[in-house]
Amino acid sequence: MAKNPSLIVSAHHAFPRYQQIARQLKQAISEGELLPGSRLPSSRTMALELGVARATVENAYGELVSQGWLERRGQAGTFVSPSVTATASSQNVAASQPQGAPLPFQMGLPALDAFPRALWARLMGRRLRLQTRYDLVMPEFKGESTLRQAIADYLRFSRSIECLPEQIFITAGFQASMRLAVRALAKPGDGIWLEDPGYRYIRPVFTDAQMVMHPVPVDEEGMQIDYGLAHAPQARFALLTPAHQSPLGVALSLERRRQLLDWAATQQSWIFEDDYDSEFRYHGKPLPPIKSLDGPERVIYAGTFSKSMFPALRVAWLVVPQRQIEAFSQAAGFLPCTAPLLIQQTLADFLREGHFWRHLKKMRQCYSERRVWLETALQNEGFEVVPQAGGIQLVMRVKGNDRSLVARARAAGLAVQALSDWRMIPQGEGGILMSFTNVTSAEMALGYASQLRKAIM
Ligand SMILES: Cc1ncc(COP(=O)(O)O)c(C=O)c1O
Repeated sequence: MAKNPSLIVSAHHAFPRYQQIARQLKQAISEGELLPGSRLPSSRTMALELGVARATVENAYGELVSQGWLERRGQAGTFVSPSVTATASSQNVAASQPQGAPLPFQMGLPALDAFPRALWARLMGRRLRLQTRYDLVMPEFKGESTLRQAIADYLRFSRSIECLPEQIFITAGFQASMRLAVRALAKPGDGIWLEDPGYRYIRPVFTDAQMVMHPVPVDEEGMQIDYGLAHAPQARFALLTPAHQSPLGVALSLERRRQLLDWAATQQSWIFEDDYDSEFRYHGKPLPPIKSLDGPERVIYAGTFSKSMFPALRVAWLVVPQRQIEAFSQAAGFLPCTAPLLIQQTLADFLREGHFWRHLKKMRQCYSERRVWLETALQNEGFEVVPQAGGIQLVMRVKGNDRSLVARARAAGLAVQALSDWRMIPQGEGGILMSFTNVTSAEMALGYASQLRKAIM
C-alpha cells in the first residue's frame, strides 16, 4: 500500500471537497510521492482519516479513474495507474494529465470510462479462437461480409434505411470513406458545397482531389440550400451533417432536405450525408436521414463507429446506391478497406448479439446526464450555452474574439475550440466549442466551468 499522502480538506475552500482530494492526489502522483502501481487506502479508511463522507473519497477516486490517474482492480482495491509518469507539478492541466487521458472539454471523444472493455476483450478473444486458417487470407476490399450484413440490419431498425449488404463499403474512418467516394465519383474541377462553419478536417480530401469547395452558410435550419442554388448551382456534390450540424448542432429542416434532393436529382449531383452523431439525441423526434427519403438515389450515406464505439477502432462505412456498387468496387480496388479482419469480425458480433444496441441505450442516458451537468455549471458561471437537441458537443456564444479567448483557455490546459476556426469565410458570431462526454460528475463540471471562467473572463 502507498504511503498515505498528507492531504488537507477544508470546508472553506473554493473547490468542493472531493476535488480538493483529487487535486492533491494528482499532485502527489505528479511529484512522485505516490508511485505508479501503488495501492491507495480504501475509500472507507481515507474518509475516516480525512473526516469526510466515504462518498466524497469515492467521487475523488472515480474522477481520477476516469482521467486515467488511478485504476480499480475489483476486490484488490484502487491503484495508481502503472502508465502514469511523474512529472514536475505544473499549473498547466495538460502537462499534468497522464498520457492519453482526455483533457477538460476535449472534443471528438466518446465517454472513455463507459465503454465495456472487458466485454469487447472477451468477444475479440472468442473470435480469435474461432478463426480458421481461411481467415488468414487477404480480406475483402469492401469489408467483411458479416459486418456489412450487421450494419444493414442495424440501419433498417435504427435509421429506416433499406439497403443490401452489397451496397455497404467498410472503411478505416470518415476520411477514408470520403476518399473512396471521391475516387469513385469525382474528377478534378468538380464543385462541392460544404457547410460553413463545418468539419474542417475533411477539407484536405477535396483539396487533394483538386475539387472546388463552395462554402454554404448554416443557420438554425442547417445548410442554406437557397444560397448554394444561387451561388454554385452546377456543383456536383454537397457534403452535409443533417442530423446535428457539426459544429453548430442544428438539424437540417425537412423542407431543406427535400429541396436538396430535388437539386441533386435535377443536376444529377451527389449528396454526401455524414450522419454523424445521429445516435445521440436527447429530446424531440429525430428527422429521418436523407438517405431514407432518397427516391432518386443520389445519396451516399456515411456512418462511423468512432463516437458510438471508440475512435481507435478506425471503422466507418458508406451506403451507396445500387447502381454505384460497381464504381465503388473499382475504387475499393485502389483504396481497399484497411480495418483489420479481427476487428471487423468482433464488431459484427458486437452488433449481432445486441451489445451495440444496449451500449447506445446506456450512452444516451449517460450523455444526457453529463450534458446537463456541464450546461448547468457553465450557466452558473454566467456563460451562454446554445441549446442543442443532440450530439456530443456544446456551443457557447461569446462576445469578443473567440480565438484569443480560446488561446487563453488552452494555455490553462482547457481543450476548448474556437468556432471561427471552423469557418471557411470569416463572418458571423464567435463561439466556444467543447465536449461534455468525459465529464464524469456534477462536481467535475463545476470545477471545469470555474476554471474556464477564471481563464477567460
Ligand atoms: C463531422 C464529423 N464527421 C465524421 C467524423 C468521424 O470521423 P472518423 O470516422 O474519421 O473518426 C467526425 C469525427 O469527429 C466528425 O466530427
